[in-house]
This record gives sequence, C-alpha cells and structure tokens, in this order.
Amino acid sequence: MNRTCVITGATSGLGRATALALAGLGADVMLVGRNQPLGEHVAQLCRKRNPGARAQFLRADLSSQTDVRVLAAAIRRQCERVDVLINNAGARYDTYDESPEGIERTFAGNHIGHFLLTHLLLSHLELAKPGRVITIGSVAHLGADLTSGWVECCNGYNRRRAYANSKLANIVFARELAARKDPTNVTSNAVDPGIVLSRFAKNNGLKSWLTHVVAHAIRRELVSAAVGADTIVYLATSEAGTAVTGRYFCKRAETSVSPLAEDPEVGRQVWTLSLTLTGLRQ
Ligand SMILES: NC(=O)c1ccc[n+]([C@@H]2O[C@H](COP(=O)([O-])OP(=O)(O)OC[C@H]3O[C@@H](n4cnc5c(N)ncnc54)[C@H](OP(=O)(O)O)[C@@H]3O)[C@@H](O)[C@H]2O)c1
Repeated sequence: MNRTCVITGATSGLGRATALALAGLGADVMLVGRNQPLGEHVAQLCRKRNPGARAQFLRADLSSQTDVRVLAAAIRRQCERVDVLINNAGARYDTYDESPEGIERTFAGNHIGHFLLTHLLLSHLELAKPGRVITIGSVAHLGADLTSGWVECCNGYNRRRAYANSKLANIVFARELAARKDPTNVTSNAVDPGIVLSRFAKNNGLKSWLTHVVAHAIRRELVSAAVGADTIVYLATSEAGTAVTGRYFCKRAETSVSPLAEDPEVGRQVWTLSLTLTGLRQ
C-alpha cells in the first residue's frame, strides 16, 4: 500500500494498534505523541512489521498550538502528500488544567489541536485526491452538556462533561469538515471504537485507570486495542473511506450520532469557536 498515514496518539492503545496494522499493510506511518521513548519503540515495531515502509515518530503535545504548528510544518516538509490523517490522540483529566494558550486542556488536546492540525495539513491531504480524515469519537459524546458552554472553567470543573463535550466536538468537526469540503479532495468521517482496553485514564493514576477498566470489564464491554482499531484501519484502507463522507462508523458500519451532533447550529458553533481559539481565518 503506497500511502502515507499520520496517526496522532500512536504511542499507546488504539493509535498504536492502528499504526501497527497500517504498517503491516505497507503504509508509511508518521506517529505522533508526547512520550518519545514509547513513540520510538512503536516506530521500531512498525519497521519490523514492514522493513520497506517508513515509520517515524514526531513528538508533539496536541494541546499546544505551537507544537501543532511545528508538527504540521515537519510533516509538510517530509511528506509529498498525506493520504490519511487519523485524529486519535485523546485523554480525560481528573483535575482542571490549561493549555499554553489558556484553553482547558481536555478540549484543547482532544479537539482544538486536531482542528488546527487538520487545517494545516489540508493542502497535503487534497493532493491524495481524496485525502481521508478519520476522527475518533466516543459513545461518551452522548453525555455532552452545553448548558455552561463548550469549554470547562476552573470553577466547577467536571471531568466527565469536559471529556464528553470534547468528543462531541470531534464528531461535529468531522461532519462539518465533510460539509465544507469537496469529497473528491477530502473525505471526513468519525469512528466510535467501542470501549477499549488501553492506557486511557492512566494519566490520572493507577487507581483511576483500574476503576475505569474494572467497571467496563464487569459489563463485558472491553475489547482489545486491535479490535477497536479495526474500523479505523477499514476506513483508512478500503473504498468505504472515500465512498462516503460526514458519517460516523462503529464496527465497520454507519451508526447514528446524538441529536446535538447533527444540529446544524451546533456545527456552526464548533467551527466558529475553533477558528477563534486557533486564530485561523475563515
Ligand atoms: N479507551 C476507550 O474505551 C475509548 C473509547 C472511545 C474513544 N476513545 C478514544 O480513543 C482515542 C485513543 O484512546 P486510547 O483508548 O487508545 O487511550 P490511550 O491508550 O491512553 O492512548 C491515548 C494516546 O493519545 C496520546 N495523547 C493524549 N493526549 C495527548 C496530547 N495532548 N498530545 C499528544 N498526544 C496525546 C497518548 O500519547 P502520549 O501519552 O505519548 O502523548 C496516547 O498515544 C482517544 O481519542 C479516546 O478519547 C477511547
């Protein structure tokens, strides 16, 4: 497969599994994350899977817009085009913190960083005719609550709402991008990977991670990262990833989104807010 795939959050979990699968299919993979040793290790594993393919780790914190701009410039310099961009990096934070630009860091890292990265890579994606943008959502978007706005404040910080709103923003962004782009240039779809056994929630400590894992294991919801990554790899490699745009996929099939996610006014809100927070012009 003669394709260049950029995967954010490739040091662990779904991103790592997606990178390994795509490298195994012959793709060149550009891996993004903050943890340099883990990233280099995944790149090495990808090269082992396919010695002919290029696998490179690029360190960047998606919640830092400076990092994202440096990252995008490096990708544009090093790749002739980008065939697939997988907006996967994501986290939930138990305590309030802000990005270098002063944006609550769940929203900054999960959504704003990907909004900016996608825009800065659009010209390279369009060269793939069409480039594919695949953004990872979550069933958690069903719990979004916009009554106090999109972005959490320090006072009254609610980690679940922060995460749910950021995942809603991911899905809305995927749909809005599709509505604004000619699908012969760029397609944009989102994925619900299911409930995945990964490092998700480990950033908040072992206890927080175990609570998360055990709760889902008891409900027999957990799947492996490789199983969760299957739909991402499917959209990155099959005709389905270019045949449709603006859709939400789970287990390789189109699935529905919450009423908020398909509300055109919510779409306009996310777009305008993201342009403002990134300083990108319409
Ligand atoms: N686990 C689930 O059940 C589940 C369910 C639905 C959706 N998801 C979504 O799936 C995606 C992947 O999660 P996962 O389950 O694979 O969790 P994970 O194992 O914790 O992986 C998250 C990845 O994102 C990276 N990351 C997080 N914040 C980042 C930032 N600010 N800048 C750069 N990289 C960042 C991490 O790398 P570094 O630490 O190296 O930065 C890591 O590679 C997330 O978007 C998550 O919301 C997960």
